[in-house]
Amino acid sequence: TGVVTMDPGFMNTAACDSEITYIDGDAGILRYRGYPIEQLAAKSSFLEVAYLLIHGALPTATELDSFVERVNRHTLVHEDFRTFMGTFPRTGHPMAVMSSAVNALSTFYPESLDPFDPETIELATVLILAKTRTITSYLHRSAVGEPLLYPDYSRGYVEDFLRMTFAVPYQQYDPDPTTVAALDQLLILHADHEQNCSTATVRMVGSSHANLYASIAAGINALSGPLHGGANEAVLKMLTEIKAGGGDAREFMTRVKNKEQGVRLMGFGHRVYKNYDPRAAIVKKSADAVLQSLGSEHDDLLDLAMSLEEIALNDEYFIERKLYPNVDFYTGLIYKAMGFSDQMFTPLFALGRMPGWIAQWREMMSDPQTKIGRPRQVYTGAVERDYLPVESR
Ligand code: CMC
Repeated sequence: TGVVTMDPGFMNTAACDSEITYIDGDAGILRYRGYPIEQLAAKSSFLEVAYLLIHGALPTATELDSFVERVNRHTLVHEDFRTFMGTFPRTGHPMAVMSSAVNALSTFYPESLDPFDPETIELATVLILAKTRTITSYLHRSAVGEPLLYPDYSRGYVEDFLRMTFAVPYQQYDPDPTTVAALDQLLILHADHEQNCSTATVRMVGSSHANLYASIAAGINALSGPLHGGANEAVLKMLTEIKAGGGDAREFMTRVKNKEQGVRLMGFGHRVYKNYDPRAAIVKKSADAVLQSLGSEHDDLLDLAMSLEEIALNDEYFIERKLYPNVDFYTGLIYKAMGFSDQMFTPLFALGRMPGWIAQWREMMSDPQTKIGRPRQVYTGAVERDYLPVESR
């Protein structure tokens, strides 16, 4: 009803009010609940940021302790869930397994599905933050064919995630503190980013009153594409291919600028940022330090990424289109140095994005303005025609 306006890709359409995340794309500013990302990345922790995004304010010491304790207590998964995780073929991409696993959580915790009951929503929130950490460790371990490990409640969220992912069974494993801090920071940087493709998907699915697990499973699928979260894996593939082809950064950039079919500088460009992505600035600063502390003092692929960036920042094509590195440009190199395979990069992004998806879904469910998401279209198909039986066609 009324006039329908076209806006492919929702370049100019706001679908909601939100108090969660603020982005000024021209100035390169990102804030969660008003706090600059730089301060949170330097001083906070992932679960504290999760609390902030979901509940709207930084927790007191007691609130934080209780939140961390509740998440920790739920990290163990049901034995049947372990079996279920083990049934996916090892050839499958972990993002497909991750979305299926999050969707399947609803079948294990039917008491946590009511989208209007605050206590149930809080339970689903804690369950998702806890179980996705375990699921992400399992994705790595089942891909390499190693037994799944049980959580250790005495350790921190990120520390125990690294232990469950990389420890050899029955052997002491204490992850390097620099790695723990770097991964904690990366999760914070990914925790929310207002109405991006996956978050808009979570809200769209939730607008039909589908439960939190179903909505987030859909968000994980949206994130998997190479134009969105899948870009971190695509960047490493691109760097590896350039290196294998002789390492000529300029030649590759010529192909990008000539818009050769399927050739884009992955990890560059953003719908909202027309300036340096503030998350990429933080990641780039820590990449060198992290790689050194992990023993990869000289990384050819990091050098190559830096040359591509330098060429781009001084090239007319990228300058006039305001294309800068985004968060995905350097993260893969860090994940790789930590020991993750390329296919684990996007699941790590998804793990970090859980608080944002949860906060956005909760905000949507409690907003009286919310209506079922239902875009209109401009019909361009055939006008009315008569059906002909098959023998007359
Ligand atoms: N390499 C080369 N050219 C590009 C790139 C790139 N990475 N990104 C945009 N352009 C060009 C594009 O060809 C177009 O040129 P023209 O005006 O001549 O047609 C212009 O810049 C505008 O691009 P667009 O595709 O219309 O912009 P968009 O807002 O629809 O897309 C984007 C944003 C992120 C999908 C796009 O920049 C892209 O494909 N980047 C590479 C993939 C990537 O790194 N994605 C991660 C995004 S950030 C975090 C996340 O969501 O995961």
